[in-house]
Amino acid sequence: MPRRSTTDQTLLDLLDDAPGSLIPSPAQPQPAGRLGPWPLNAVHCEDCLSAMRHLPSDCIDVVVTSPPYWGQRGNGGIGSEEDPREYVANLTDILAEAMRCLKPSGTLWLNLGDSYNTPINWRAEDHEYSSLGADGNGLPPTNSAYTKNRGRRRAFIRDDVGWLQYGNLLAVPYRVVLALCDRGFLFRGEVVWEKSRPLPEGNCRRPHRRHEGIYIFAKDERHLFQVKPPVGSVWKLVQTPNKTPHCSTFPLDLPVRCIEAAGLESPGVVLDPFMGSGTTAVAARQLRHAYLGFELNPEMCRIANDTLNDHSG
Ligand SMILES: C[S@@+](CC[C@H](N)C(=O)[O-])C[C@H]1O[C@@H](n2cnc3c(N)ncnc32)[C@H](O)[C@@H]1O
Repeated sequence: MPRRSTTDQTLLDLLDDAPGSLIPSPAQPQPAGRLGPWPLNAVHCEDCLSAMRHLPSDCIDVVVTSPPYWGQRGNGGIGSEEDPREYVANLTDILAEAMRCLKPSGTLWLNLGDSYNTPINWRAEDHEYSSLGADGNGLPPTNSAYTKNRGRRRAFIRDDVGWLQYGNLLAVPYRVVLALCDRGFLFRGEVVWEKSRPLPEGNCRRPHRRHEGIYIFAKDERHLFQVKPPVGSVWKLVQTPNKTPHCSTFPLDLPVRCIEAAGLESPGVVLDPFMGSGTTAVAARQLRHAYLGFELNPEMCRIANDTLNDHSG
């Protein structure tokens, strides 16, 4: 049986002006109410760091999240920092705030991919680095690798910083793990998500990646967890088709497995500060928990709430 921390607080203690019943029923299976200013069971169009600052401490049962990875986005915000050190610092601040909101009985599950210090979505000028193509000095300038309209991260090289050299796998997730540990949070394990449909990576002198990490954190060693059956460290997830316009969703099975493994004994609140299309919310609702989400993109936020409302009840 999962163990409950003696310092755990009930949801009832922490809900502000909670109007709804906390007892699951077929009509209203999830806990209702609000946390701080934020109504539960909604995705709020907010910057997650500012929004979480209005949440009380120790009020969330499980956090499941996947932030934008470094260098994948071109339109500002977290992930678009030129310097990966800035990305690590910004993401650590956000995750530390989520940890403040987490109950001592809770766990935070972070799905985060790594990055090579190479350009992604190459441009013709990137030929000087490229060893692709027949002559080993780049593909034709018209190749879609250079012309597609996507994020255009460059390599970030600093001669005086050993790990910021060209071609290095930057170990971004581990830098975030270490930064959170330095702030006093417990790193409780890593799950390897073994992908059944990895992205093609072309001809490169390194292993083609067919996995991503999910990193688990807690703030008290006595947190809840599923112990029977034990949770394995390599997961093959059911790959559900992404029917939303969001281009970087995780499969529904990912938050489902994380929430189940978190071992809650009764309905609680699941937070995703980077809610995207609402996958974590769908998983929370399916497992009869309440959800709370923040999402910066207004269109995505609308789509997430519409989808959740369409399928409620
Ligand atoms: C990798 S996606 C998450 C996808 C989500 N797991 C799903 O399955 O749909 C990251 C999301 O974080 C959002 N985002 C980026 N910066 C944010 C911020 N500061 N506050 C809230 N959301 C943010 C992006 O708009 C994007 O939708």
